Parts: sequence; C-alpha cells; structure tokens
Amino acid sequence: MEGKNALNGRIRIQGSKNAALPILAACMLIPDKCVLKNCPDITDIGYMCSLLKSTGAVVDAKPVTGQTGLCLEIDAQNVKEHRLPEKYVSAMRSSVVLMGAMLGRLGEVCVNYPGGCVIGERPIDLHLSGLERLGAQIWTEGNHIHAYADELKGAVIAFPFSSVGATQNTILAAVTAKGTTVIKNAAREPEIVELCRFLNQAGARIELSDTFMEQGKLVIHGVELSRLHGVEYDIPSDRIVAGTYLFAALAAGGEVRLENIPIGQMDSVCGIITRMGAAVVQCPEDKAIQVNAIDRDRIVNIPYIETDVYPAFPTDLQSPLLAAACMAKGRLILKEKIFSSRFRIVEELQRMGADVTIDRDTAVVTGGRELEGRNVIARELRGGAALVIAGLCASGITTVADCGYICRGYQDIVGDLAGLGARIGYVD
Ligand code: UD1
Repeated sequence: MEGKNALNGRIRIQGSKNAALPILAACMLIPDKCVLKNCPDITDIGYMCSLLKSTGAVVDAKPVTGQTGLCLEIDAQNVKEHRLPEKYVSAMRSSVVLMGAMLGRLGEVCVNYPGGCVIGERPIDLHLSGLERLGAQIWTEGNHIHAYADELKGAVIAFPFSSVGATQNTILAAVTAKGTTVIKNAAREPEIVELCRFLNQAGARIELSDTFMEQGKLVIHGVELSRLHGVEYDIPSDRIVAGTYLFAALAAGGEVRLENIPIGQMDSVCGIITRMGAAVVQCPEDKAIQVNAIDRDRIVNIPYIETDVYPAFPTDLQSPLLAAACMAKGRLILKEKIFSSRFRIVEELQRMGADVTIDRDTAVVTGGRELEGRNVIARELRGGAALVIAGLCASGITTVADCGYICRGYQDIVGDLAGLGARIGYVD
C-alpha cells in the first residue's frame, strides 16, 4: 500500500467469524439440515467446514448473488467419525469447541491440541474441566486428547474467570446432557448470546435471562438429541471487522460510513474513537455508523485504555487501536488484560518509526510521529490488520508479508479499503 491517502466512502461489514465458528460447531449436534446465511468467506470458515465434512457431515457453500459472504448448508444427519484431522485442528484455535458438540452428538471425540494465533499462552484447561464436570472422561496420548462419555449429566460449573471458548464448549456439551447445567462466570460476549439463540431455535432450552447478562450465570436444561431440528439462521455482522475499519478511518483521516453494523455492540469502540476526536454518529435505524476524522488537529490520544471482557474494550481491537494511536497527538497507555503476549506488532511499528514501548502487559504510545513505509510481517490476524492501518498512514510504500493471517478473519480487506480510496493491492 502507498500511504497518506484519506479514506472516503462506505463499506458493508461482513458476517462475524467468531459468531459463525461456534454455530458451525453447533450444527454437528443437530441430526438435521441447517442453513447459515451471511457467513464470512474467510479461511477459518473453510477450515471449520473441512472439519465438519471429515466427520461425515455434508457442507455446501453457496455464494449469494448481490451479497458478499456465503450461505452454508450443513447436513449433519450422517455424522459418524469422532477423530478430527490434525491438519485443520492445528490450523485454528476454535476447532476445540467441536469437542463439546461431538461429545453431545457421538459421546466420543479425539483431537490434537488446537492451533490458532500466537498471542500468548492459550491453555484449554477450562474447556476440559467443563466437559469433565458434565461427566466426560478425558485422557491424553501424546499430542492427542480423547474424551468419552456414556452419558453426559447436567452439573454446576463455576469457572474461575470468563473464557469465551470454554463457555461455548460447555454449552455445546450441556445442550443434550441429562438434567440442568448451571455455568457460573460464563462469558457474556455477543457471540455467546448468538450461539444460545441459534441453539434455542434448533430446540435447545437455554435461559438467556437477565441473571445471565448481569451475573454471568447461564442455565441450560438438557433436551433429547432427537428434539433438535434444523434451522435457518443469519450470522450477525462482525464487530471486530467494523472496529478495525473505524480505527483505519481515525488513523488515515477522511469520512467513512460503515453499513450492516452490529449496532448495540460497538459502544466501547465508538466511545474511544469519539474521545480521540473523531465525530461518530450511530444510526441504529439504518444499522450504520458514520465516522468523520477529517480535522487532523483534533485527533488526540486519551491517557489510558485497557482491554477487558465484553462490554469493555475488546482485546481483538487492541492492535488496530495501537496503530491508530501512533497517528494521534499525545500519549496513550494501553493495558492488555486478556492475553499474555499480544504486542507482537510493536517491533514492526517501531521499524516504521513509531514511538511505542512495552512493559509486560502495557504499551506506551507517543503518537504524532511520521511513519515510514517498510516491508513488515504479519504474525497474527488482528496484528496483521493493524499493520495495514499503519501502512495506510505511512509515507511511501509498505508491504505486509504473510498476509494469509489477515485472510483468516477479513473477507476482503484489500477490496474494502481500495473501495474507500486507499492505494492498496496484492503483490506476488
Ligand atoms: C475468543 C475469540 C478471540 C478473542 C477472545 C477474547 C473466537 C474464535 N476467538 O478466544 O478472538 O480474542 O475470545 O475475547 O471466538 N484461558 C485459560 N484456559 C482456558 C481457556 C482460556 O487460561 O481453558 C485464558 C486464555 O489464555 C486467555 C483468557 O482465558 O488469557 C480468555 O480467553 P478466551 O476467552 O477463552 O478466548 P478464546 O475463546 O480463545
């Protein structure tokens, strides 16, 4: 990309990766045909479809005329194979949520330890303890984890802290467990709510009550597997992709309208962007957000931001914020509270001339310095997208190598930004 070009125009936001992946896993539980609309057309969805197919499910992907994204038809009537292929499990972290679904469906599953973005230690102890509490026997052989249950039984599971994946895994196993399961300290991210809504439409009995939203206590009444039936479901749009483009507009300047926004989920991000000096208008009736960052003198850093669980500022937008903070005047102290090693882009930003330092879980950015185009390397998904933001603001040419990481979560970042006037394209 050749930087220093303001962004202007509109973008339609793709379907949510983190909502679609656990819902695809949930399809394995349902001995029927499900249709998922507005799935993002990204690598991770491809991996999850391959995993589903490896078990005996039939998956058809259909592009929808006039729309981006995919409509997926998943027929999981003939699911038989409980061993998941290492190639795809290793490729992405969220393959681990298939464990709960497969236990619920077949009573058995064998996977290797999951892969995913290298953003610090990512243990799966909470996932396994949730499944064990529901009655699964779990043992490891080399790099493989086996789980087996004659019958899953509802239980009270108190997580020591909130984990999105462990909550999803436990929900998936609890849907057809005998009796009632109570998850305390359940994650309350929108993607959890979405998974529960999908399962309830398919015949599950999950209480999405105020107690869940207020205290993180989730109650699941087990149902017979035969009660679950196929549904048609619209995957919501992606709050992290929307946030990435908001930070791109803030950093590069210009006026951008984002359409198909998950409007109620963007408050923490819009709040920060407003405090950094951009004019942000949320239009709930149109599901759109308009951001205006033309007046560069007004774009400033705010003193302190930390990432935290929803509804606080999401860890997945920490790197895009870091890149945008390089372009704002003044100093930002940014604390990462969720993952232990999520500042891998800092070295690359420093090579571009940014003034960023790291002390354990905290980055200090002194913004307002000129960035210079460089050859940089994406080492993970959101950090890679943040380097694209930095490249849009730098003088000269920036190339981002290993951009396959970015394609794991962004359907068409190059097309989207080019549509806003960015000078960006792929090179061999
Ligand atoms: C999901 C999202 C990811 C997001 C993260 C936090 C998907 C596919 N990914 O990841 O984009 O950044 O939520 O919002 O939806 N932990 C343990 N033991 C466990 C599980 C987690 O110690 O068994 C720790 C993790 O290392 C991390 C913290 O808990 O420090 C939160 O992780 P978790 O909420 O589980 O994130 P993921 O589900 O992996």
